[in-house]
Amino acid sequence: MKILVLNGPRLDRLGERAPEIYGRTTLAELEDMLRARGKELGVEVECIQSADPDVLIDALKGTDARAVIINPAALTHTSFALREAIAACTVPVFEIHISNIYAREPYRRHSLVSPVARGSIIGLGVQGYVLALEAAAMEGDDAGTT
Ligand code: DQA
Repeated sequence: MKILVLNGPRLDRLGERAPEIYGRTTLAELEDMLRARGKELGVEVECIQSADPDVLIDALKGTDARAVIINPAALTHTSFALREAIAACTVPVFEIHISNIYAREPYRRHSLVSPVARGSIIGLGVQGYVLALEAAAMEGDDAGTT
C-alpha cells in the first residue's frame, strides 16, 4: 500500500523559513520521518514537493496511492484548480497545516481545501503529518465517515 505526501510552495524551505512558526525540522528530515513511520505501518510513502500547482494536480490525478496527504501551503487560500483536483481525486485526501491558520493573518483563515478533504489536521506542527499518515493508513478500517 502506498501513501502520497504532497507539499506545496516554499515548504522546501522548512527548517529555515520562520522557524518560530514552522519549526526547525527540514523537509528532508520530515520526509525521512514519514518513510520510517510508514515502514512501521507497512505502507510505502512517496513524497513530492513543488511550487507548481500543475505538478500537484497531475500527481493527484495520476496517483496509484491509497490515500494522499497534502499541505497545499499558500495554494490552500488561492487555488480553485487545486481544490477541484482534490474534489475529483478518487482516494481520500488529508489536508495538513503545520501552523494554526485560523490563529494567523486574516487571509490565511480560509481554506478552499478543507471542504473537499477527507479531514484536516491543523496547527500541530510537523507531528500533524505523522498523525495524518496514521489516519491514512487506517483508512477503510472503520475509521468513521463524518
Ligand atoms: C501552511 C500555512 C499557509 O498559510 C502557508 O502559506 C504555508 C504553510 C502551514 O503548513 O501552516 O506555506 O500551509
